[in-house]
Amino acid sequence: MAATELQCKGADQAFLNRISDQLLGGIAGIGIAMGMETGLFDVLITLGENPHTSQQIADTAGMKERYVREWLGCMAAADIIKFDATTETYWLPTNRSNIMELKAVALTAPTLYGGFFKVAECFRKDGPSGVPYNAYHKFDELMALTQGPFFRDQLVQKFIPSMPELHQQLINGLEVLDIGCGEGISTFAMARHFPKSKFYGVDLSQSALAKARDKEDEMGLSNVEFINADITQMPSDWTDKFDYLFMHFILHDLSYPTKALREMHRVLKPGGTLSVVESNTHSNLQENLDMQDRENILIEYIYSLLNCMPTSLYPGDGAAGFGAMWGREKAKEALEQANFRVVTVTEAYKEGVHLMCKKPMTG
Ligand SMILES: C[S@@+](CC[C@H](N)C(=O)[O-])C[C@H]1O[C@@H](n2cnc3c(N)ncnc32)[C@H](O)[C@@H]1O
Repeated sequence: MAATELQCKGADQAFLNRISDQLLGGIAGIGIAMGMETGLFDVLITLGENPHTSQQIADTAGMKERYVREWLGCMAAADIIKFDATTETYWLPTNRSNIMELKAVALTAPTLYGGFFKVAECFRKDGPSGVPYNAYHKFDELMALTQGPFFRDQLVQKFIPSMPELHQQLINGLEVLDIGCGEGISTFAMARHFPKSKFYGVDLSQSALAKARDKEDEMGLSNVEFINADITQMPSDWTDKFDYLFMHFILHDLSYPTKALREMHRVLKPGGTLSVVESNTHSNLQENLDMQDRENILIEYIYSLLNCMPTSLYPGDGAAGFGAMWGREKAKEALEQANFRVVTVTEAYKEGVHLMCKKPMTG
């Protein structure tokens, strides 16, 4: 039977309408993200309810009028900004100025699209094994946007105090390694709060570390240091150096997690603490589908498919490709296999599960 005949027989129009709405929403989202990336929404928010021509808006923004006008057209068509045809003017109603709160969500799809066609090629049996991290333009910035609120508002206020003994020791002074620190937002938050402790941030990405070092100069903190290194091969003189290892959304991304865990075990002092924060998911699809926050599950699967899994698989032979959805059960198993004792597994926040581990005093 031809595909078209099949379509007519069992057509579920409500399903098609729902998917169509989702796809159209995605297209509008590209325009919204453009306004956030260029700063045009910020300009409209500054201009308030007063209607302005595209030339006035472009002049205020210091941008090319032709591009600004096309974008304004997109946003008027999406019913986000208002347009007055007689004066050819545009404005964003002030009660919509909260749109910038959605910046991280808006920039997710355009950032992930950096790898879209390359990932599609990876599906083919004779296609590439994965996609390099640098295919995703500004991925570090997206991470900073997405994880920033947790690092700023919860890390030292709630997350670390949930481990009272460690909290007190950090006040007194410990050596801490922030593994895969990216732009260093978590490293700075901890360093500012615990001035007697020393914080090292390690990451493979030179561009992320360059941003971290710029901020370091701005802040003038003396208890922070950033190191450009691969965590599967950390400096040889780091054996038993650290009291606390913090690792936020990294383990599932690694191409060689077993090697990394072996290194982490080496650099942590016996009796030391390791915090691994991973996606708040399970290793079993049905358990994920049964979770209340299905939106989060969908976003995590898309992240995993478009970025986490293909970047992990990129080196080819032997690369793990766990993906963001490998779940807490598999993460626990991997940590135990690496000789960490998993003490607790708790929800750190809506999107993150915390596996709090200890390195046994012996072995
Ligand atoms: C998903 S981001 C998470 C960044 C940050 N921890 C956060 O939660 O926002 C993963 C980070 O791990 C870093 N990374 C991946 N593999 C690494 C490796 N083998 N050694 C060091 N850093 C690595 C990447 O450069 C990136 O900054």
